[in-house]
Amino acid sequence: MEKIQTQAEWIARAKAVFPAGGFGNFDPNIVIHDGKGSRVWDENGNEYIDYLIGSGPMLLGHGHPEVIEAVLEQLPKGMTFFANNAAGIELAEDIIAAVPCAEHLRFLSSGGEADMYAMRLARAFTGRDKILKFEGGYHGMSAEAQMSLAPAQMSNFPQAIPDSAGIPDAVRNEMLIAPFNDLDFLRSLLVEHGHEIAGLIVEPLQRIIPPEPDFLEAVREECNKYGIVLIFDEVVTGFRFSYGGAQETYGVTPDLCTLGKVIGGGFPLAAIAGRKDIMVHFDQAIVGSDQWLMMLGTLSGNPIAAVAGMKTMEVLRRDGAYDTLNANGERLMGMFKKHLTAEGIVHQVVGHPTLFDVVFTDQTVRDYRHVQQSDTNRNAKFNVVLRAEGIFKSPGKTYPSLALMEADFEQTDRAISVAAKAIAYS
Ligand SMILES: Cc1ncc(COP(=O)(O)O)c(C=O)c1O
Repeated sequence: MEKIQTQAEWIARAKAVFPAGGFGNFDPNIVIHDGKGSRVWDENGNEYIDYLIGSGPMLLGHGHPEVIEAVLEQLPKGMTFFANNAAGIELAEDIIAAVPCAEHLRFLSSGGEADMYAMRLARAFTGRDKILKFEGGYHGMSAEAQMSLAPAQMSNFPQAIPDSAGIPDAVRNEMLIAPFNDLDFLRSLLVEHGHEIAGLIVEPLQRIIPPEPDFLEAVREECNKYGIVLIFDEVVTGFRFSYGGAQETYGVTPDLCTLGKVIGGGFPLAAIAGRKDIMVHFDQAIVGSDQWLMMLGTLSGNPIAAVAGMKTMEVLRRDGAYDTLNANGERLMGMFKKHLTAEGIVHQVVGHPTLFDVVFTDQTVRDYRHVQQSDTNRNAKFNVVLRAEGIFKSPGKTYPSLALMEADFEQTDRAISVAAKAIAYS
């Protein structure tokens, strides 16, 4: 009989094969064995309510029977072709029908790749080099995206700080960094540099920080004024905030957007979508070699991912799906507020019902620096107790799913109460 491995054994094996003992994504001291509906289990059989949901894709919960059925139907027909296939074409049609800015689309395997192409595409379209991003904004792992993602040292805007080794200064020199939600700063930066900037990339909800009223509208106007390509990174918000994403929710249409997570239904798939006259730079026959962006990816448009994504989106289109998701999130946000307030703990619950977290501060959280200045030690302690109480979440985000049941809410309420008490007395 095969010996059952304990979690400690798996952790030791991981340390032997991975730098820092893990995939690089998440705490390597937990190894997940399986997931079903709203729950996951670790290799020791401990059960958790899952608020990580694979870092966002598993919006329907784990092992949704209709998604499994769609995947099982596709599997014997072929796992990947590299060539155009019907599943990928249909998924593209569904996305274009849903997302306001999407006229044409290309697939990739990860959100970070989509963001990299979006920035390159803005450069090709405008013939300019500079990219503007907001401090703390996350857009994957490209050299550009690694600028001022999570700087420990606060520098003067608009200077970019690399968050990774191995990035040449040449990249840094072409990046401009601005604080999120600061229109005055943005406007003055654009007066000086507006005509040099190819693209402005922004998460419409930056990590968990909402845009202030009219911020995105004003960003849209400023981009129009200077001919800057506005890129919404909707890798997280796409098909989560609403079926049309944050651009539908906030009523601001970018020129390009990037999508990932939900559209692959738990499989590797992402997309860049947007205006045809910009996306045309992927068509060499029309723009010519000098203006063309080559784009290749072995798994782009993978049919298994496409059918999983399509089925996930079909479920999300059903009556009441987003009402339930939002209600689930609001209920959880309310629990955090209730218990932390009862213990007299200064905090803010920041975000959108579909994606939020607690920040231990008395300030309104408007940008990255406000989160940095919050009591992050308290946050870490809070998350440790939540984990011990059966809550599985990322250190900076809580993602509700549609799979949450009454028992999950009851257990979560108790867990938050215990965690709030624990940090009140620590
Ligand atoms: C806003 C945002 N953009 C891009 C990415 C990168 O996506 P991926 O991990 O699929 O490369 C992420 C991942 O979490 C994200 O949150």
